[in-house]
Amino acid sequence: MTATLVTRVARYRENGGMTLEELLDVKQRTTPPEPPPPGVRLNLGSGIDKKEGWIDVDANPEFAPDVCADAVAHVASLDDSSVDEIYAGHFVEHLDRDVAERFLAACRRVLKPQGRIGVVVPDTGAIMRRYVEEGLDLDDLCHLFLYSTVQETHHKWSYDLTTLRRLLERAGFVVGGEIDRFDDPRLHAGARWQCGLDGVKPHRRMLLSRSRGR
Ligand SMILES: C[S@@+](CC[C@H](N)C(=O)[O-])C[C@H]1O[C@@H](n2cnc3c(N)ncnc32)[C@H](O)[C@@H]1O
Repeated sequence: MTATLVTRVARYRENGGMTLEELLDVKQRTTPPEPPPPGVRLNLGSGIDKKEGWIDVDANPEFAPDVCADAVAHVASLDDSSVDEIYAGHFVEHLDRDVAERFLAACRRVLKPQGRIGVVVPDTGAIMRRYVEEGLDLDDLCHLFLYSTVQETHHKWSYDLTTLRRLLERAGFVVGGEIDRFDDPRLHAGARWQCGLDGVKPHRRMLLSRSRGR
């Protein structure tokens, strides 16, 4: 989280209540990230989460990414089957729902067959459970998680594991396992209010047999 963001939240939370740490409830990962094997790896919407061995792509020059560009346009500019792996942490919720689907379809196009994409988003189900069970202030939730007005680019859509799976499947991915929300080495930080899924680009043959089965 940048200083600007902390300042904005602090200014917003003028009425007291929970501390920012209590609200965010982040956990340090215990599994350190390892440098990945050689290959082209895109970290889309990288923000402060710059990754060794990955190409960090972000529209905000403040984060000094490797590629400072709109990640949707950047992926659209790449060749078919030219990327080994993609990670998008807390990024697709910054896109309109239809743009997110087209963006993920473009991610599938540029990945090599069997290439993996990991997508992590705020888990709106978990956030709502905290609202009901812990009596969190709805303005705090809107400001931080639901609309995320603390960030320069706000959230435009919300997901849970069911709708994130649907989004990935509609973009043509075979959805694999759930990403460990506390300790996956790709995460910037662990937290119970986030969720993620891995998807794999199927071989063309698998795609054809899946579409025939529908
Ligand atoms: C919440 S941060 C995610 C940071 C990091 N990936 C993580 O998991 O913590 C969202 C990032 O997406 C970037 N972003 C939003 N819209 C974008 C776009 N269309 N193209 C590229 N970056 C974008 C923002 O600048 C911001 O750095």
